[in-house]
Amino acid sequence: MSEIISTSAPGKVILFGEHAVVYGFPAIAIAINRRVKVSIIEGNETSKSLFTPDLFPKNQFDLTNEHIIPEQLKAIFFLLKKTKVIERLSYGQQILIKSQIPPSAGLGSSAAISVSLAMLGTILSNQELQLENINKIAFEAEKIQHGTPSGIDNFVSTFGGGVFYLKNSLKRIDLSKISFKIVIINTKVTRNTKDLVLLVKKRYEEKKDYVQELFNEIKTITEQAKVYIEKGNIDKIGELMNENQVALEKLGVGHKKIIEAINILGNEGALGAKLTGAGGGGCVIGIFDSKEESSIAVQKAKEEGFEAFTTEPSKIGVIENGIKKD
Ligand code: MEV
Repeated sequence: MSEIISTSAPGKVILFGEHAVVYGFPAIAIAINRRVKVSIIEGNETSKSLFTPDLFPKNQFDLTNEHIIPEQLKAIFFLLKKTKVIERLSYGQQILIKSQIPPSAGLGSSAAISVSLAMLGTILSNQELQLENINKIAFEAEKIQHGTPSGIDNFVSTFGGGVFYLKNSLKRIDLSKISFKIVIINTKVTRNTKDLVLLVKKRYEEKKDYVQELFNEIKTITEQAKVYIEKGNIDKIGELMNENQVALEKLGVGHKKIIEAINILGNEGALGAKLTGAGGGGCVIGIFDSKEESSIAVQKAKEEGFEAFTTEPSKIGVIENGIKKD
């Protein structure tokens, strides 16, 4: 099976400001060096199909039959239709989606898929590649997937690097002065961003003043963090992450597995740790200034039954991997 064309886009971690960002408050996120790759493959079958081995390992879906596409793949199908990829595929060709990003874990895997597909569609249609447009198209799919997302996930995945995100506006954050190792622990408690965003909405409607106060706290933390990131003060960044975690727990998106993971990171010397993304399970991040300590933390987390790995910020947003000619 030969690859005709492929695109790829990164996952992300939110360092500060998740949930509050949905209500127009700022957040800070960085792209990470784990990616999704989307390819068109010349297969040996006669249909137009979709294969997502990291999401549904055993299944291959016939793209010409909308009725058999499972609910979880609706956003992908929407994008393939909207960008006319299905129309342009020849019979016998397959869309293959491979991901290094654990799904439903807060690391932006769905956004990375949407962004990669949006770029694939743009390339196939011979339109000019404008990242703003790719971001916009991906955001439409994110709305199908997550209800009322802020847009931060697709934004970071499209543009890469560090981003201070405020109401759809991009401010790059200069990451050149800080150097840290990020340990990600996946609690393996799968959850759904849409449900958690709805849970916070419900709390907001029930206890508006209290939640508003928490959002204001998170805003102050995020604004301070921007300054410390740009100054390269990693100790302060760690302290602020811990403060952000307390506010997220008060917001109701904590979980006992999150606390367990944070404790492992703290015991092994993390300068700060918090949940990342929607919470309720998913992933926890901790930052370290020592490579040795970060490796030990990964090891300890694995011994306790978690999935864990170290990651680094990535400047590379969505890219075309190259057209291979037979
Ligand atoms: C999801 O990665 C982060 C949330 O803030 C939702 C969003 O921003 O769309 C929970």
